[in-house]
Amino acid sequence: MEHQERNIIRDIIKTPKLDTSVLVKGWVRTKRGNKNVAFIALNDGSIIHSLQIVVDVANFDEELLKKITTGACIAVEGKLVASGGQGQSVEVVASKIFVYGTADPDVFPLQKKGHSLEFLREIAHLRPRTNTFGAVLRIRHALAFAIHKYFNDNGFFYLHTPIITGSDAEGAGAMFQVTTLDLKNLPKTSDGDINYETDFFGKSTNLTVSGQLEGELGAMALGSIYTFGPTFRAENSNTPRHLAEFWMIEPEMTFCDITDNMDLAEDFLKYLITYALEKCTDDLEFLCKMYDEELIDRLKFVTENDFKRLTYTEGVAILEKADQKFEFPVKWGIDLQSEHERYLVEKEFKCPVILTGYPKEIKAFYMKQNDDGKTVRAMDVLFPKIGEIIGGSQREEDYEKLESRMNEMHIPAKDLWWYLETRKFGTAPHSGFGLGFERLVLFVTGMSNIRDVIPFPRTPKNAEF
Ligand code: 4AD
Ligand code: MG
Repeated sequence: MEHQERNIIRDIIKTPKLDTSVLVKGWVRTKRGNKNVAFIALNDGSIIHSLQIVVDVANFDEELLKKITTGACIAVEGKLVASGGQGQSVEVVASKIFVYGTADPDVFPLQKKGHSLEFLREIAHLRPRTNTFGAVLRIRHALAFAIHKYFNDNGFFYLHTPIITGSDAEGAGAMFQVTTLDLKNLPKTSDGDINYETDFFGKSTNLTVSGQLEGELGAMALGSIYTFGPTFRAENSNTPRHLAEFWMIEPEMTFCDITDNMDLAEDFLKYLITYALEKCTDDLEFLCKMYDEELIDRLKFVTENDFKRLTYTEGVAILEKADQKFEFPVKWGIDLQSEHERYLVEKEFKCPVILTGYPKEIKAFYMKQNDDGKTVRAMDVLFPKIGEIIGGSQREEDYEKLESRMNEMHIPAKDLWWYLETRKFGTAPHSGFGLGFERLVLFVTGMSNIRDVIPFPRTPKNAEF
């Protein structure tokens, strides 16, 4: 059995060569049949569909067949033939079977079908073997690939920004500290503070909340860059849309204003969703059937229609008149909550929305200030079912304005001297945004909890796997 090259089940199903000999390897999804014939559904992860294996019981050792239960890993050699059965067009008539690994039915957690998504989260080491997670993980891969393709095709350079950062000033969220100090015996300064001089980096360090500030340094040299890496936020937000560790895509473009930024965000999202519709048809059809009937229509709708663009001020005026009672009351100046964002998207406009011109008080220090003295050139892209999927802005490129805003917001310039220097030496207008990768995967798969679109979710009190 070892001499023959393995056939991938996706190739067999998509481009079958009937009456040839094939060798397939994978995990048993189900086995059924009778005394004379057994039918095995074999899945190798390459495609949502399982391949039917037909076993003439008389030709095989009884002990071997007993070992073939749901979850077992096997190899099968046989002939590929047209199938008369329902649900598949081809099947393999087995001539040889080898069992790599059994899965004792008495204890294998996926022995039965139809487990809840909550239960599957507790067995994150096995859930990739379910149809649902297979589909989600293949779509996740396709989107990651499409992101690199989009930027590469459009002249952006992939910049690797650090995961361990010495600056904790962006203010995008609470941070996880990184240290090699002995927590039981912390060195202290004469004032009683922790003395980080003896720590690994000689200063206090954290896991990054965003690659943007370093991304800007790259854009001020290479023109257009993007980052795509893990980001960490230590907020205790137990919602279906927050993770403590998530992946973010952050393009940053020099010579680009807020309108160019919005145009890029809209084009980028439409490209990614179109890519998934074209390349992940089988997986999307499965998710549509199992979880969310409107999924594919919703994806198509987003790719075919313009996003609605309006200012925060206009958005707030609509929300104030809304015939809906919000948990958080609306007035100009508040940070919009998910319920407000979703009202605008789902009830008012029934399409994705880009909001701009937010009050400067609720946005980061680096956003370019508008002439009104009250608002900044921020933009948030709001999506149905998700709320905020992208946050971005035009950046303040004026040294004095940036410095004075930092002072107002008590951001120590001494920690960000390198960031400020880009405004001192050859400053240039530039803009960028951050797309939360899992929020994108959430939207494209139609799943309803962000814990179900990342292989190993990190949330408060949860880092088992
Ligand atoms: O709006 P945020 O905080 O923006 C930034 O970090 C900027 N530095 C981006 C930039 O301009 N380069 O985060 C950007 C996006 C959000 O819109 C959201 O999609 C996602 O990141 N996000 C999260 N996703 C999952 N879990 C969390 N805790 C998230 N926090 C933000
Ligand atoms: Mg944001």
